[in-house]
Amino acid sequence: MAPRISRLRPLLDQIQRTQRRAASQAASEVSAIRPENGTVIFSGIQPTGIPHLGNYLGALQNWKRLQNEAEPGTKLLYSIVDLHAITLPQQAPMLRQWKREMLAALLAVGLDPERSSIFYQSSVPGHSELMWILSCTASMGYLSRMTQWKSKLHLADDVSALDEKAKASLKLGLFSYPVLQAADILVHRATHVPVGEDQRQHLEFARECATNFNHTFGAGSRLLVPPETILSPAKRIMSLQTPTSKMSKSDTDPRSRILLTDSADEIRKKIMAAKTDSAANAVSYDRTGRPGVSNLLELWASFDAAGRSPEALAAGMAEGKGSLKDLKVQVADVLVEEIPPIGERYRAFLERDGGRYLDEVEARGAAVAIANAAETMEIVKRAVGLSN
Ligand code: AMP
Ligand code: TRP
Repeated sequence: MAPRISRLRPLLDQIQRTQRRAASQAASEVSAIRPENGTVIFSGIQPTGIPHLGNYLGALQNWKRLQNEAEPGTKLLYSIVDLHAITLPQQAPMLRQWKREMLAALLAVGLDPERSSIFYQSSVPGHSELMWILSCTASMGYLSRMTQWKSKLHLADDVSALDEKAKASLKLGLFSYPVLQAADILVHRATHVPVGEDQRQHLEFARECATNFNHTFGAGSRLLVPPETILSPAKRIMSLQTPTSKMSKSDTDPRSRILLTDSADEIRKKIMAAKTDSAANAVSYDRTGRPGVSNLLELWASFDAAGRSPEALAAGMAEGKGSLKDLKVQVADVLVEEIPPIGERYRAFLERDGGRYLDEVEARGAAVAIANAAETMEIVKRAVGLSN
């Protein structure tokens, strides 16, 4: 009996670990909070071009909502993560431009520099400094199982970091991307991190880094704070041309996405040309059976002032015998009302004071973030033995 159990032991351990992870993951996710005194909200976005509707509904809208609902005493930190951007090749002039554009976009969607500190990740040395320290306890095995580096390199999900195919293209920076992301969050002692679905795995890794660090250097005491994930209420926004894949910056077809800077005319054209289906010329909500129609309904619902669900909007359309074309006209009307004003504010922010306004906003945000990160780095360095 005994040898049998000992052979099963690794498997049992593995099952237990998975169960523990699933339990801690569920416990660490919420869909909404009311930020109050002591809450620290942190999130990041890469400067890789003008945000599209997916970025807006999956991330930025939630950032703004948290800011607007935050009670006094809440810290709000939003970073444009330029160090993450260089995990894939970038051209220096483009990166410089995209950083500014993202800053202008964040202000245009409604982040207020009086309430939120907005800064470039590379302005705050604590992020990369903590990353190094965390990388000394981060497990290669865990990182190897994560999916982002594989999808960025177009590799299969089951490939390992040491496979020939991976070794040929995988850079250390891309592989350790999640460690830098963990450092972003932990260096600010963030209690809550609003992100889209696709970031779940990275947040779970950040929690693991915090617990690991506390265990190794603090005898379990809370030196670093394991963050909770706030999942965005918006589902994945899908491509307007291939509604089975998500709306993405990297899609080669510009008609697949709506940018926050698109004109009313562009928005209308893209929505009217959106792929639906020929199942019926009536409107119904069925995410798997009718992804194109359902995506349009979800877009509409995301902006609906009355807060109606996609199902309710579909039922209303069906009742009025609305066609798919009627649905598109509706959705276009809603988007044309919401999006172009963002684009106008975006252009005004880019030009304000000959560009100096953006520099000032960033410098103020970075100063707050530098001070905040320095407090954590003092605790961390003392715990590790790097300082007295
Ligand atoms: P990315 O530009 O892909 O790095 O994404 C930036 C943020 O936008 C992340 O929080 C994503 O979860 C979110 N996001 C990107 N694309 C979509 C999409 N199609 N639907 C919903 N959220 C998205
Ligand atoms: N990886 C995130 C994305 O691709 C961006 C990011 C970097 C981030 N650091 C972060 C998000 C810290 C939340 C918290 O969208």
